[in-house]
Amino acid sequence: MTSHISSALQLPPLQSHTPFSTRHGLLPIPPPNLNGGLRFSAITCASSNGRAPNSAEDGVKEVKRILEEKKRAELAARIASGEFTAQQSSFLGQLRSLVSRLGILGDARDGFLAIPEAKGSMSAVGGQAFFLPLYELFLTYGGIFRLKFGPKSFLIVSDPAIAKHILRDNAKAYSKGILAEILDFVMGKGLIPADGEIWRVRRRAIVPALHRKYVAAMIGLFGQATDRLCKKLDAAASDGEDVEMESLFSRLTLDVIGKAVFNYDFDSVTNDKGIVEAVYTVLRESERRSTSIIPVWNIPIWKDISPRQRKVTAALKLINDVLNDLIARCKRMVEEEELQFHDEYMNEQDPSILHFLLASGDDVSSKQLRDDLMTLLIAGHETSAAVLTWTFYLLSKEPSIMAKLQEEVDSVLGDRFPTIEDMKKLKYTTRVINESLRLYPQPPVLIRRSLDNDVLGKYPIKRGEDIFISVWNLHHCPNHWIDVDKFNPERWPLDGPNPNEVNQNFSYLPFGGGPRKCVGDMFASFENVVAVAMLVRRFNFQLALGAPPVGMTTGATIHTTEGLVMTVTRRTRPPIIPTLDNKLLEVNVEDPVEKASPPVAASKLSNGLLRLRSRYATMLTESIRRFPPDPQSEGGLPLSLRTGHVVSFIHGM
Ligand code: HEM
Repeated sequence: MTSHISSALQLPPLQSHTPFSTRHGLLPIPPPNLNGGLRFSAITCASSNGRAPNSAEDGVKEVKRILEEKKRAELAARIASGEFTAQQSSFLGQLRSLVSRLGILGDARDGFLAIPEAKGSMSAVGGQAFFLPLYELFLTYGGIFRLKFGPKSFLIVSDPAIAKHILRDNAKAYSKGILAEILDFVMGKGLIPADGEIWRVRRRAIVPALHRKYVAAMIGLFGQATDRLCKKLDAAASDGEDVEMESLFSRLTLDVIGKAVFNYDFDSVTNDKGIVEAVYTVLRESERRSTSIIPVWNIPIWKDISPRQRKVTAALKLINDVLNDLIARCKRMVEEEELQFHDEYMNEQDPSILHFLLASGDDVSSKQLRDDLMTLLIAGHETSAAVLTWTFYLLSKEPSIMAKLQEEVDSVLGDRFPTIEDMKKLKYTTRVINESLRLYPQPPVLIRRSLDNDVLGKYPIKRGEDIFISVWNLHHCPNHWIDVDKFNPERWPLDGPNPNEVNQNFSYLPFGGGPRKCVGDMFASFENVVAVAMLVRRFNFQLALGAPPVGMTTGATIHTTEGLVMTVTRRTRPPIIPTLDNKLLEVNVEDPVEKASPPVAASKLSNGLLRLRSRYATMLTESIRRFPPDPQSEGGLPLSLRTGHVVSFIHGM
């Protein structure tokens, strides 16, 4: 798992076998099959939920899936055949290539060593998540190569040492490049796109707002928001309706981030307010812009004539109005407050980041503050939603992992809402999320532009290069990971450190690395742990019968192509009841419980015919509230009422 392969992956093209024999010989892996036979299992996640197709519709989906795989197989075969390899146009070029392959000139600084080059055509890589063809190219061209699309060219980096150099060791020499251009319309000079002095100042202002006490206070918020989602799922489970989880996760995390950043309750899990639609309009537009080839939105009159652009402008105006209003309201609150600002300052009524920033006396223009809030809203929303989506997808495929997870959650939490102390105890839950982030990194690619000439590995590069660091490739590198495609939370020992870019030496980058590392990593990790724990403790999740195959597509994060449609069923598990020595129930002797059939006993319990005494009694009624009799289950009762606990509980009196 920890072998390092950077230089082994940097060999020139058309030596496809060579890059896959590791220098250390630790993890031999097969080379790509040059005849077009493919190692695609690595990234195939389309699925017909493990069941045989049983209808014409399923059949069509299956055919679609096979066609999709065939397309990718064809692409890999074309890559392997050398079609993507840029031809050396001149005698000099060929001579350089030969000399560099023979290693005669060794040193990169002489300028003779050329980065391996692949040239792409949009049609070959289009129609699928764009990081997938980059993976196939990586397997052929190695840890750094140039991808040319006509006059445009990008450096694709999949080597951990080079990623570390760009993100951490020489971070000053790189900017956010095209990302900043694309996101300007929505984030302006917010923390994600900002560079240079603006970024430095804003980062220094924002990071302290996410202090430990704030994050601990957020655990309660995560619990409340997830509880609302549980209620929604409860209703769906009762009605026997399948649910599309990806959009529900998106709403859950929108609700969380709205409250956490500027104390606004979108309440999008239960309501469809105009502002929620406005947020999604803007989000989809940023994603569309990041995957569009021609930036038509830059044409001056376009935003006035295109209906979509007009909608985007209106949505932005609505969000800005709401944000300006929230800023004004929060300013008034801060003015009225008897303020004693300190490092871990937090207003109990409004613990939001906005409140912290205003209370700290952050001297900033309204426009900058709005850009920062918008950035935090977007950064903290889609990423967490994507993590939850893919985690539940993975769990639905691995019942044994789900069972182990539920066991941990049952024993750590019981029926309580999670607290900050539980975060340390929910170790397996955390590993499940670590592993989900390895298989589905959000975002799958980090974007940079070189501000100076530099040397990457052994290759000199010039100022102005656009660079994609493929986190997807780093996390799926077959030389680095054992059973690379396997969802295996056990690969991270429970008693080991939480995996991150430092202890994994930049082969694992769930939250980026270096000075521009995610500011919300702890926030997001706890948010995901709380959501996963609360959901799996209440429900079982299965891919719905006849649901569309779960394919991947790219926006800012990895989305599903047609949603994650799941059947959610309430879990029937024993409530946690301590062993009791004393009688706990007072029973009307005219109506002995022990003679009643279990359903009758249960209905009497929940109808209050039995008077329960002591705090244990409260626990029992709470359990019944949370796990009400399930008409589908045996005897119409939760397991605990059918067998074991409650019966002996009653009998023990
Ligand atoms: C599981 C959820 C999340 C994931 C996977 C994630 C991932 C990342 C990654 C990989 C970066 C680095 C981007 C780059 O280097 O180009 C980043 C940056 C950032 N993230 Fe997150 N993030 C998550 C949640 C959050 C949350 C909840 C917030 C806010 C509360 C947040 C705020 C930010 C900000 C502001 C940056 C830019 C930092 C800078 O450039 O200085 N993220 N995130």
